Amino acid sequence: MRITDTSDLWWKTAVVYCLDIETFMDWNGDGHGDFEGLAHRLDYLSELGVTCLWLMPFFPTPDRDDGYDVTDFYSVDKRLGHLGDVVELIRSAKDRGIRVITDIVVNHTSDKHPWFQAARSSKSSPYRDFYVWRDKPPKDAPASVFPGEEDGVWTLDERTNQYYLHRFYHHQPDLNVANPKVREEIGKMLGFWLELGFSGFRVDAVPFFLPDEGFSDDHSDPHDYLRELRELVSRRRGDAVLLGEVNLPYKQQLTYFGGRDGDELTMQFDFEAMQRMYLSLARSDARPLARMLAKRPPIARKSQWANFVRNHDELTLDKLNDAERQEVFDAFGPEERMRVYDRGIVRRLPPMLDGDPRRIRMVYSLLFSLPGTPVLFYGEELGMGENLDAGGRLSVRTPMQWTDSKNGGFSTARRSRLPNPVTEGGYSPAHVNANAQRHDPDSMLSFMQLLIRRYRASAEIGWGELTILKQPHAGVLAHRVTGPLGSMVALHNFTAEPVTVPLTIDEANGDTRLVDLLDEETTMTAGDGTVTLDLDAYGYRWLRVLNPGSRRLS
Ligand code: NOJ
Repeated sequence: MRITDTSDLWWKTAVVYCLDIETFMDWNGDGHGDFEGLAHRLDYLSELGVTCLWLMPFFPTPDRDDGYDVTDFYSVDKRLGHLGDVVELIRSAKDRGIRVITDIVVNHTSDKHPWFQAARSSKSSPYRDFYVWRDKPPKDAPASVFPGEEDGVWTLDERTNQYYLHRFYHHQPDLNVANPKVREEIGKMLGFWLELGFSGFRVDAVPFFLPDEGFSDDHSDPHDYLRELRELVSRRRGDAVLLGEVNLPYKQQLTYFGGRDGDELTMQFDFEAMQRMYLSLARSDARPLARMLAKRPPIARKSQWANFVRNHDELTLDKLNDAERQEVFDAFGPEERMRVYDRGIVRRLPPMLDGDPRRIRMVYSLLFSLPGTPVLFYGEELGMGENLDAGGRLSVRTPMQWTDSKNGGFSTARRSRLPNPVTEGGYSPAHVNANAQRHDPDSMLSFMQLLIRRYRASAEIGWGELTILKQPHAGVLAHRVTGPLGSMVALHNFTAEPVTVPLTIDEANGDTRLVDLLDEETTMTAGDGTVTLDLDAYGYRWLRVLNPGSRRLS
């Protein structure tokens, strides 16, 4: 590997930042965030160290699933701006060294999309086969993704007396992706946004839209289609990525990467490790996370894991067994209103950890030190909390908190016009806001900047191989990432007790220095590569392994 590879395969060392235009910054004072508002905040994002923005859906929408219900794949919801604003944003972001990707939702449309309107008008509509219809709902239908909100995945359309498929809400009919005409439309749509300058897509609900669950007459290998999509995207723009939402066990995720060939999704979120991290936090025991990380399958050089602490949905715990899930519920979501779908929590991290800055910082230190690419959800850099009054998944989608003034500086509009309520109480803008934190060297924001700077200067995190280091403390995760450009050891203490951690560093000798990247300390290893390192309660350390003659900056 050459240092210049880090720019060709930019996503392997990126810092991805997810935001919803609607709740980020309102520039025209109508209560809704807009593209112009975001453009005014690019310098903030660049100062933070973000290198890739992921925009949640901004397309025209009836907004019954926060924009994931699209009525026009080629346009911008007029509350947020127009196509010209999109191009201006991408251009200005590029000037700050920031790429932009967008959510793309091809599993379904809104039921108000002209395709579905035409499809449901008559069985002979040319758009009928854009969706999946049955005379009777099949007996072995899977459960809805939204239990409690939807009874099933087939809904009767009375006009034509057939049932249509919807794996999500009933107002989100599933597209029939086996239909070549639908595939052609998807291809055109991806091409359109790439042409406007996007660097790729966060692909919504990937396993659902591939024709692999017995809903279609197409029995071809679903991965052939994913490969086709990747090929198309790469032909149009060589550096474009597909960041896929695939909440499946590692073994299956490997197939969505295209196995060791890496010719399907470029990146996938690591839902498995994320869920074990919360179990580890609940137990003050790093082993569940360590065990899961050790199971990560090796992936192709150009593929990448996307690590995250929190996203815009419920914090899903669907991969834990019932008892484990209950432990996490008891620790972090003790009240009914904090949970959803019997599998997830609708809170943000800081309130779950009772606002303990040591624990919160330990978790983000972990996020940036794990092999892969970190993905932040807006406001995490400030330690924003949730507003449970917003209800369900909306609790974590409150307006970004810029200042301590009206509406947290997000909008000058009347409160009642905002899409979601601003967070109140101890996490309100009076206590948590970007403006104050920018001027405070000890703030969460300043800490996040430091982590990002160190992460960006440590390509081994994005490129390296992971080793879980042996040491005697169940509450400590000690891991090492080693790549062609260097090696780093990271320690994270999940417990409230300070500890001393004995380690053996392979290939180290009496002249090896361990340089603390987050502090001012340097430790020498003994001749046999052993060393003991102190960790505070909920402490964290990143140590660059430097052998004599290394030309790396510490
Ligand atoms: C996954 C998205 O993350 C979620 O927010 C959305 O509701 C569903 N897909 C349906 O589009």
